[in-house]
Amino acid sequence: MKALVLAGGTGSRLRPITHTSAKQLVPVANKPVLFYGLEAIASAGIEEVALVVGDTAPEIRAAVGDGSRFGLRATYVPQERPLGLAHAVLVARDFLGDDDFVMYLGDNFVVGGIDEFVASHRDARTEKRTGTGTGARTDAQIMLTRVKNPSAFGVAELGPDGRVRRLDEKPAHPRSDLALVGVYLFGPAVHEAVAAIRPSYRGELEITDAIQWLIDHGHDVRSQEITGYWKDTGNVEDLLEVNRTILESVTAAVKGEVDEASEVVGAVRIAPGARVRCSRVVGPAVIGAGTEISDSYVGPFTSVAEDCLVDHSELEYSVVLAGARIEGTRRVQASLIGRAARVAPAAGVSRTHRLVLGDHSVVELTP
Ligand code: G1P
Repeated sequence: MKALVLAGGTGSRLRPITHTSAKQLVPVANKPVLFYGLEAIASAGIEEVALVVGDTAPEIRAAVGDGSRFGLRATYVPQERPLGLAHAVLVARDFLGDDDFVMYLGDNFVVGGIDEFVASHRDARTEKRTGTGTGARTDAQIMLTRVKNPSAFGVAELGPDGRVRRLDEKPAHPRSDLALVGVYLFGPAVHEAVAAIRPSYRGELEITDAIQWLIDHGHDVRSQEITGYWKDTGNVEDLLEVNRTILESVTAAVKGEVDEASEVVGAVRIAPGARVRCSRVVGPAVIGAGTEISDSYVGPFTSVAEDCLVDHSELEYSVVLAGARIEGTRRVQASLIGRAARVAPAAGVSRTHRLVLGDHSVVELTP
C-alpha cells in the first residue's frame, strides 16, 4: 500500500495566516499539520509516499525532504494548477501503479490516526482475494464525520443498510450532516473513475464525483464514521481546539533555560535554546527554540513557536507562530498570532489603538 498526500492549494480559508505560506505547514502544538498526517501514514505501516505539490512546492520540500525522518520514502509530483483532488490522482498515476493507496489531504487532522482505517481495508482486500469472509469488494473506503456546516464539505447520504448511496460536493442543501473527511482508501478501480468524470461547477475534478462514479458502476464503497477531526474551516476556534487536544497529551520536558524566579507548572515542553525569566508558565503548553518569555504569564493550552518574544504580557489558550513578539500586553486569549507579528501597547496617546493589519486580519479589542 502507498500513500498520496495532497500538499498543494492556496489555503484561502485560513487567511491571513496562509497568505504567505502553505496551509499544510500551519503549526499545531509547534508542529506543522502535515507532519501529523505523515506520522499517521508511517504508523499505519505505509512506507512509500508521494506528495502532490503546487505553488508552495519549495516550502513543502524543505519541510519534508526525503521523508526519512518520518520513516517514509517521499517523492514529489507537481500539479501545475489546483485542478481538483481527482486530478491529483490522475497526475500521480505512474507513482500509484495498480497498488492500493491512502489519499490524505495534507491540511486534515484526524485525532487517533488512521491505523484502524488502513487495517480494515487490508483485511477486506485479503477476504476478496482469498474468497474468505464476506468476499465484499472494497474499491474505495471513506471516513465520515458529523459537522455543523456540511455545505463546506463533501456530504454523504447513507442507505438504510449503512452503505454509501450518494455523495454531493459542497451542496447548498445538504442531505445529511455527514462530511467526507480528507482521508480516503482506494483500489486501482479509482483510476478508471478519475478518467471518466468531468470538471464540476468550480472547474475541478472532484474526488467526490469519482467515488460517486464507483458507486454508480457497481463498486462497493464503504464508509466509517469517526469523531475527532479538524480541517481548516477558516475558523480559528477550530485550530485552537485541535491545538488544545494535542497539548493534552504533551509530557513535561524542560530543555531550555528557566531561571530561579520563574515557575513552570504541569506539562510544559520548553525547547532547547528557549529562555524563561521571571515568569510563570502553566501547562499544558509548548515553547519553541529560541523563544524568550520574560516577566510574563503563559497559561494552559498555549503553543508559542520558535524565536518569539513574550515580555510583560499574559497569554493563554493561544497559538503564536514563529518570530512573533507580544510585549506589554494584558491578557491575550483564544488568539492566533501570525509569523513575525507584533502586539504591543500604542506609544504616546493613551487609550488609543494603533493597528497595522494584513489583509483579512481580525482584531477583537476590549472597549
Ligand atoms: C475536499 C473535498 C471534500 C472534503 C474536504 C475535506 O474539499 O472535495 O469533499 O469534504 O476536502 O477536507 P476542499 O478542501 O477541496 O474544499
